[in-house]
Amino acid sequence: MQIEIRPMMKTDCEAVGSLHARAWLEAYRGIIHDEFLDSVSIEKRIENWQKDFEKYQHLTRLVAVLENKVVGFVVGDKEREEIPEIESELWSLYVDPDYYRRGVGEKLYYALVEEFQKQNFKNMNVWVLPANTRAVSFYQKMGGELTSFKKTVTVGEQKLPHISYLRNLNQ
Ligand SMILES: CC(C)(COP(=O)(O)OP(=O)(O)OC[C@H]1O[C@@H](n2cnc3c(N)ncnc32)[C@H](O)[C@@H]1OP(=O)(O)O)[C@@H](O)C(=O)NCCC(=O)NCCS
Repeated sequence: MQIEIRPMMKTDCEAVGSLHARAWLEAYRGIIHDEFLDSVSIEKRIENWQKDFEKYQHLTRLVAVLENKVVGFVVGDKEREEIPEIESELWSLYVDPDYYRRGVGEKLYYALVEEFQKQNFKNMNVWVLPANTRAVSFYQKMGGELTSFKKTVTVGEQKLPHISYLRNLNQ
């Protein structure tokens, strides 16, 4: 299976937006309240990606392509919580649910690591919901170290505590 990793282009917005909504709904059903999930629209998500594409040019955005189809994406940049010890952050990583467990996530993860090493970041953090056990297993497998940092994200009416995994990039 030949997976190509390349920078995201404006023409990928439709595929990325659709994949984002589908993977988000699949990952968080049973974790985030149904009322909130049921309000998520694939069309709206696509629209947001298209609207914000130019505005967020400074971010590192990569897509995974398999047989001309976008099957995953990763987005990252500087760390957003202003934690002095942390330099960069993997903001989001989503794989098309039809392509789980074929190494797409791993390829995207290491492509971002390589990109951040070129940008001279010393470490990379990722926030994850402990209830998202698949993502927790994934980040553990990728070699992230569980930190003592915590943050709570409010989604609709729900407060969701996150944990984080940090990776040293000086290797
Ligand atoms: C987490 C996610 C990115 C993993 O992507 P993937 O392409 O399926 O993962 P890979 O095939 O590259 O897996 C690499 C390793 O991660 C671990 N892993 C991945 N999925 C796992 C699962 N369901 N259960 C346990 N371990 C898992 C395994 O160790 C796996 O290696 P192996 O297959 O050799 O055992 C994907 O499931 C996803 O997009 N989930 C929804 C969105 C999400 O939760 N994103 C993370 C939060 S931002």
